[in-house]
Amino acid sequence: MRSLNPIRMSGLEVLPIVEGGKGIAVSNGESSGAWAAAGGVGTFSGVNPDSYDSHGNFIPQHYYGRTRRERHEELIAYAIRGGIAQTQVAHERANGQGRIHMNVLWEMAAAERILSGVLEGTKGMIHGVTCGAGMPYRLAELCAEFGVYYYPIVSSGRAFNALWRRAYNRFPEWLGAVVYEDPWLAGGHNGLSNSEDPAKPEDPLPRVLALREVMRGFGLGEVPIIMAGGVWYLREWEDWIDNPDLGPIAFQFGTRPLLTQESPISDAWRDRLRTLRPGDVYLNKFSPTGFYSSAVVNPFLRELQERSERQVAFSVESVGDHTVEFPIGRRGRIIYLTDHDRRRAEAWIAQGFTQAMKTPDNTVIFVTPESANEILTDQINCMGCLSACQFSNWAQNEAGTTGKKADPRSYCIQKTLQNISHSEDVQHQLMFAGHNAYRFRDDPFYANGFIPTVGQLVERITTGD
Ligand SMILES: Cc1cc2nc3c(=O)[nH]c(=O)nc-3n(C[C@H](O)[C@H](O)[C@H](O)COP(=O)(O)O)c2cc1C
Ligand code: SF4
Repeated sequence: MRSLNPIRMSGLEVLPIVEGGKGIAVSNGESSGAWAAAGGVGTFSGVNPDSYDSHGNFIPQHYYGRTRRERHEELIAYAIRGGIAQTQVAHERANGQGRIHMNVLWEMAAAERILSGVLEGTKGMIHGVTCGAGMPYRLAELCAEFGVYYYPIVSSGRAFNALWRRAYNRFPEWLGAVVYEDPWLAGGHNGLSNSEDPAKPEDPLPRVLALREVMRGFGLGEVPIIMAGGVWYLREWEDWIDNPDLGPIAFQFGTRPLLTQESPISDAWRDRLRTLRPGDVYLNKFSPTGFYSSAVVNPFLRELQERSERQVAFSVESVGDHTVEFPIGRRGRIIYLTDHDRRRAEAWIAQGFTQAMKTPDNTVIFVTPESANEILTDQINCMGCLSACQFSNWAQNEAGTTGKKADPRSYCIQKTLQNISHSEDVQHQLMFAGHNAYRFRDDPFYANGFIPTVGQLVERITTGD
């Protein structure tokens, strides 16, 4: 294995090894601080992170506001407080070594307010901000105001081209690196575009070379690219290291750091990771953000798959093949189905999926009364955590809505990520993971239940294993 040379990121020579940010509280001050202390770059999640009272006790996020907008304001206050708390922990743990980055999701509600609030309250402690999802045009200007490096996460050279031309070209000195996240392999949300086929993964090398070409065109040949998604053993990436065509490269890990002493995930989550097999992580389109995402197939994800399978198109008038009257809801409102779909719907009802719920796409899905109740309750309890949510139809605009029908095929990501982060439940919650997670099972490093410290993992990674 080629030796890894240090690389300059966020103003310091560091190991070219990064812990990726993981929401909600999966990469935090402890894990990112430990990663920095080991000489790399640690990234804590700035998406609704945990905060603590003056005795150091975790503050559960309860919401008291009566309207979504009031709860949205409470959420922003929690997020800023949590971001500052995690920064302080990370700063202490890092002990002056490595670099600390904060991760934000541009599609989270009030991303700019939260980012500014945290940077304002932690001056000098955060060295970089990584930001994925959507097109974060304002990221560069905001980071430059605080003298912090910015790290856009993209899945193609095309996306970076648009960001640079429209906004980033005015702040070249604060661009820390560009994160290329493999949209077929990385855990969490994935940036697959409409022209890319979720079933046809593409080799990252030509895509990253294309990104480098775009960057060279803007005079950014020496700005590092951080390769994220599907990286396990660095010995499998030897042709990427010191490759003059690629230029400076670092590697980001999201899934491997889940299984470390400092990782805050539950024992149940750790145990499940060790038993995953190829194919157990599923690239799906259920996220209320509208993005693809990758998570472990468990009863939570299976229920979403099945909800979407128990789906038929309807018409409000009798037209074409849709001529069969079908009463739905308490008031027995009539919709029209095809005869074939009427039979399918009746079979689902006979199995207990008695509640028909309309989607924004002129379809209805069939769920149990318990499920329908949970969906409606979660929609009502929404605290506006996203800038636009397909599940509840909340939007951060004046009207407070996307103007579309709420989509019962999706779920409240805020609720489920809080639950999985703060309980032992890994069956009925969303469990993000990268597609390589099955490798925990066979990697000898983890034999006999061994769980490394972050320091041990970083050392192991530098050996190529
Ligand atoms: C549990 C989990 C949660 C994640 N959450 C986020 C997130 O909130 N924001 C983000 O930009 N990336 C997130 N990611 C992606 C990671 O930061 C990282 O880029 C990715 O996991 C790298 O690929 P790998 O999973 O193959 O290691 C998450 C990944 C995992 C596994
Ligand atoms: S319903 Fe949507 S916007 Fe509201 S809290 Fe849940 S995920 Fe966030």
